[in-house]
Amino acid sequence: MTRHENIFLDEFNDYFKENGAWEQGGGRKQTEIFARCFDEVITFPAGKFTLLDVGCALGQAAAFFARRYPEARVSATDVSNVAVSRGRGEYGDRVHFFTEDIERINGRYDVIYCSNVLEHFHDYVEKTMHLAACCRRLCIMVPYNQRQRGRRLVPDADSFEHQYSFYEDSFDFLLDEGLVQKIDIAFHPCPIAWGWSRRQRITHGIDNFIRKISRRPHEHEPMQIIFDIRTNA
Ligand SMILES: C[S@@+](CC[C@H](N)C(=O)[O-])C[C@H]1O[C@@H](n2cnc3c(N)ncnc32)[C@H](O)[C@@H]1O
Repeated sequence: MTRHENIFLDEFNDYFKENGAWEQGGGRKQTEIFARCFDEVITFPAGKFTLLDVGCALGQAAAFFARRYPEARVSATDVSNVAVSRGRGEYGDRVHFFTEDIERINGRYDVIYCSNVLEHFHDYVEKTMHLAACCRRLCIMVPYNQRQRGRRLVPDADSFEHQYSFYEDSFDFLLDEGLVQKIDIAFHPCPIAWGWSRRQRITHGIDNFIRKISRRPHEHEPMQIIFDIRTNA
């Protein structure tokens, strides 16, 4: 972990404390919504398999997968020991929780699920390569084509805000390096977590109509992009 990431760790722990900013901002619901949206796109074969949720926050996605796949052995990890201990307290009967930095994860999992984590890292390439070596199937979910004042995001190692805008080819380096066999891609809006609510769809619909007649560019609903990666591990 770098010096900066150490500083972030104190912030994460504060963030995840009881009634802290994560819960106040609807983080529990968000994690569950992301898992449910993912589940609408990707189904794992029934039966026994191992799944690790990386960057699990308070564990709602891991708990969802444990319910969804009762025969699976589900684990969940996060760099925040506060998040992990709270997740364990709530779901420890169904999910094995452990504290670890993403780059120190070891072992071999059939599936790694990593939702809305990699966009926070200025060095997401190295971190993804490490994850790809730890699993047969790496499922990544990140915001698609996120823009700031109309432009792609610019990485800043001093911040834990979103660092990169992700596109269809953002993980092609894994193919180029010969680390994976195949990458399938899907898109999904995740209303409330990352997308427009029903009411926003109506207001944006009206706004887009006005944009069309005034020849201004169409505003698109925020989407998540899901990468379903078959590795060589
Ligand atoms: C935006 S949250 C996403 C939480 C959850 N996966 C979801 O879909 O809602 C990012 C998570 O990544 C975790 N994280 C940040 N840096 C990490 C690192 N170096 N190793 C492991 N987890 C990390 C944070 O503690 C946080 O729980």
